[in-house]
Amino acid sequence: MRYLQTKQIAVTTVRKDKHPFFEDHNWANVETIVASDTGQSGVYFLASQAEDYDKKINISVIKPSQSPGNDFFAHQISTIYGLPSPDAKLIRIDKATASQHIDRLTSSTNQRTVAGARKFYNALITAPTNHLFEMKFINGDAIDTIDNDNTKVALFKEKTFLKALGYTLPFDALICNGDRFNKLNFYDSSNLGNMILQKNGEFIAIDNGINALGEIEDYQDVPMTFYQKILSEITEAVYAGNRDVIDTIAIETAKSIASECPKLRLDAEQTRRIGDGIIAGIHKLITLDEEKIQESYAGIPEDSGKTEEALNLVLDNLRIVHSYKETSPNT
Ligand SMILES: Nc1ncnc2c1ncn2[C@@H]1O[C@H](COP(=O)(O)OP(=O)(O)O)[C@@H](O)[C@H]1O
Ligand SMILES: [Mg+2]
Repeated sequence: MRYLQTKQIAVTTVRKDKHPFFEDHNWANVETIVASDTGQSGVYFLASQAEDYDKKINISVIKPSQSPGNDFFAHQISTIYGLPSPDAKLIRIDKATASQHIDRLTSSTNQRTVAGARKFYNALITAPTNHLFEMKFINGDAIDTIDNDNTKVALFKEKTFLKALGYTLPFDALICNGDRFNKLNFYDSSNLGNMILQKNGEFIAIDNGINALGEIEDYQDVPMTFYQKILSEITEAVYAGNRDVIDTIAIETAKSIASECPKLRLDAEQTRRIGDGIIAGIHKLITLDEEKIQESYAGIPEDSGKTEEALNLVLDNLRIVHSYKETSPNT
């Protein structure tokens, strides 16, 4: 009986090519394409009605990258972990059809679309795989752009927002994402552009990449153990009930945010909410199943640019958290 049950579960988790996550975009319907004006490599906003883009409705966001499979893997992990991030899918594209439709837009009457289509066309034809990472559009503002709006600054300082922000930190350590918070960063500075305050006041984490993979060769002076050290520190503190260690990290995080945006400076109680988020994140990682991570990796197409290195990094990091389960006298 037990055996049968297990077998049934295994069958339902197999992802077939027909899975909606892999369905190609309807390129024939794209009327407007705009390149983002922020970010390193950027994203493309696609809409089928020109006015939708201005109204910020029915927009798809496409992020071409070297390894869309790994981007989708990071997204799947964010879902398992419960980090608020844009709904996303990995689309399998027919490059010939897609590029033909995008090429058509390079002679659009809208200059913004001409520019966006040209850039996207190049990204498309040079993409290393036949996959793209596609997201829902988030209607909001990166937190480094809200400092002249008192209402938004107040929403940023809400405890649910700050807790979600703190919750992001163990996740970043888990996936080796150095592109958000000061102390996880190769450059020791924050990238507040990767945290969005939605119009409804909720928090959304974007650009959740397993960044260390691409950058490790350029920054060999920063060992991978950096992420692992932070994970060990905070996990040990949570097991030991040592709030000071967590608060110190929360204070540093708050300080680095304020050093970039002085109006986002937090008081002691607000800073503590970041710590609450960090603790909640560690508790989540403690019960997070390694098999779930493995299963989600297995469901991603082989030819999408996913790498076992990414899987192993994440599993190694998760095992650091889980290793405390065995060694802690409190459990
Ligand atoms: N899902 C989304 N909805 C709305 N805007 C987005 C979305 N994803 C990205 N952006 C915008 O595009 C910019 C670049 O995207 P990001 O994923 O951060 O790429 P990069 O790796 O280039 O930094 C972001 O700073 C944000 O302004
Ligand atoms: Mg970014």
